[in-house]
Amino acid sequence: MSGPDLRRAAAARALELVEPGMRLGIGTGSTANAFVELLGGRVRDGLDIVGVPTSEATHAAAARAGIRLATLEAEPVLDLTIDGADEVDDELRLIKGGGAALLREKIVACASRRMVVIADAAKRVETLGAFPLPIEVNPFGLRATQLGVEAALASAGCAGRVVLRLTPEGAPLVTDGGHRILDAHLNRIPDPEALSRALWAVPGVVEHGLFLGIASAAILAADIGGAAEIT
Ligand code: 5RP
Repeated sequence: MSGPDLRRAAAARALELVEPGMRLGIGTGSTANAFVELLGGRVRDGLDIVGVPTSEATHAAAARAGIRLATLEAEPVLDLTIDGADEVDDELRLIKGGGAALLREKIVACASRRMVVIADAAKRVETLGAFPLPIEVNPFGLRATQLGVEAALASAGCAGRVVLRLTPEGAPLVTDGGHRILDAHLNRIPDPEALSRALWAVPGVVEHGLFLGIASAAILAADIGGAAEIT
């Protein structure tokens, strides 16, 4: 099975968790988009839910799919958030932010009674960190913040390059919140909790892509002889 098939299989399983009347957080990325498409089909068949999107991109996709949308201001407590991830470990710790939506994704996930991750099983790792860790920062004093981030990484036993994320055109990427993203290429994060605390102590860091103690479950789809096995 191809990657898109596996993402769709995980999204389809997550759809079974959706009940009428739910207030749903809707994630960002290709797996979340597969979920949006399937959810749109259920809504067209009469399912009544309200969705809170985690990015402008998801807002547009969900609106196109005919899903009724609200802001987190209007619906500050959500029943369930379904979102993708860049890495997930056995303790349900995640790296997110490959799509630059980590700030809204974390706010929405933390406003939800449950967050369920959907992903290709290839995202499962023993140790977080092979995927570069996204760190969202205020553009003011970016170089100073980057030095602070580098010191925080070192204090948490992490070594590696920190790179400003660029658009395909070569300009600094601007997030939905008007911030920038620093990607920390670390290979492994020996103590994610220590790194999380160290990053939050750096002025200028708005949020980081370590989601610790937030996800309640993960739906991972693997290709077993041409069929999707869900774990
Ligand atoms: C966006 C995210 C995405 O959920 C993550 O990057 C996974 O994306 P995909 O489903 O396309 O692999 O965190 O900020």
